[in-house]
Amino acid sequence: MQRILTGIQCTGMPHLGNIVGAMLPAIDLSRQPQHQTFIFLADLHTLTTLPEAEVRRKYVHAAASAWLALGLDPEQVIFYRQSQIPAVGELTWYLSCFTPYPMLANAHAFKDKRDRLAGVNAGLFIYPVLMAADILLYQANRVPVGKDQLQHLEIARDVATSFNHQYGSIFILPEALIDRNIATLPGIDGQKMSKSYNNTVDIFLPEPELRQNIMRIQTDSLAIDAVKDPDTCNVYKLYSALATEVDTATMRQKYLNGGYGYKAAKEALFDLILVKFAVPRRRFNAYINDWGTINKILQAGEAKAMEIAEETMCIVRKALGYA
Ligand code: ADP
Ligand code: TRP
Repeated sequence: MQRILTGIQCTGMPHLGNIVGAMLPAIDLSRQPQHQTFIFLADLHTLTTLPEAEVRRKYVHAAASAWLALGLDPEQVIFYRQSQIPAVGELTWYLSCFTPYPMLANAHAFKDKRDRLAGVNAGLFIYPVLMAADILLYQANRVPVGKDQLQHLEIARDVATSFNHQYGSIFILPEALIDRNIATLPGIDGQKMSKSYNNTVDIFLPEPELRQNIMRIQTDSLAIDAVKDPDTCNVYKLYSALATEVDTATMRQKYLNGGYGYKAAKEALFDLILVKFAVPRRRFNAYINDWGTINKILQAGEAKAMEIAEETMCIVRKALGYA
């Protein structure tokens, strides 16, 4: 049985890019019987950039609600909060002593901030080590991630290799699972949709706000009559990521014919989101108002995660002379 493991940082509301690019594919993988799947809320990683406890609670609750609303089955998936498994902190320390400084100094997330070092905390610097611990603690074979996380996966493999070299085959070397067919969705401003850019489509908003959210997608200012280029249009790109091939082809033709305005295209996108995500939207509303149920589901996942984590830690502690 292959162990599949993935997590998403809870630093904002889960958006359409996260859902299409990461959450739905992970849920699909979890439905295959040859997989044992771990999906977790990376709430420790959020402390590198998010100090406020109440905000963190809100995002953790929203992320858990979104995963469950989108169809994660907690009977099939070990679903947990990273922070509730103390062994991950312990393993992070052990692994950090096997992680060469230059490897971390070259990590993109840190390198991007090298000219503003005063604002970089040590947690951000060792972010990839905590991520390696997330993965190695559960001896995951495959880790579904977006392209942006590939370097972190390489670091996890390198650290595991150097640990294994010294102490024998302790850790399974994880492989990144990247689906190159998954598109990177643009945000409402045309840049990559991201929690950090304030440009997201939040499919869980109540209908009037969701409509406003979609109507704010930026387009050029061609008149209704004009022929339009679907391939440079953010509305079309989002629509085609969700619609069937036939519906996508129909919208494409409308752009190319002229006489079809961006407002109509936005209405079509809005309607499609309402139909396609009708069930998740309803379920999300129920979960977001019921922390008690979510907490119970997470605690059950955490008990299972803890057991598996302890199996690994017994071997690691013995290897290091701590047991
Ligand atoms: P964000 O940029 O919103 O902070 P993360 O970096 O936390 O998102 O990414 C979480 C997961 O969602 C990753 O697997 C990433 O590849 C995927 N993802 C994020 N943004 C998009 C997007 N715009 N289109 C497709 N997938 C995305
Ligand atoms: N760094 C990942 C992200 O920003 C989240 C993450 C933390 C993760 N630990 C992980 C993903 C372990 C996969 C496996 O999306």
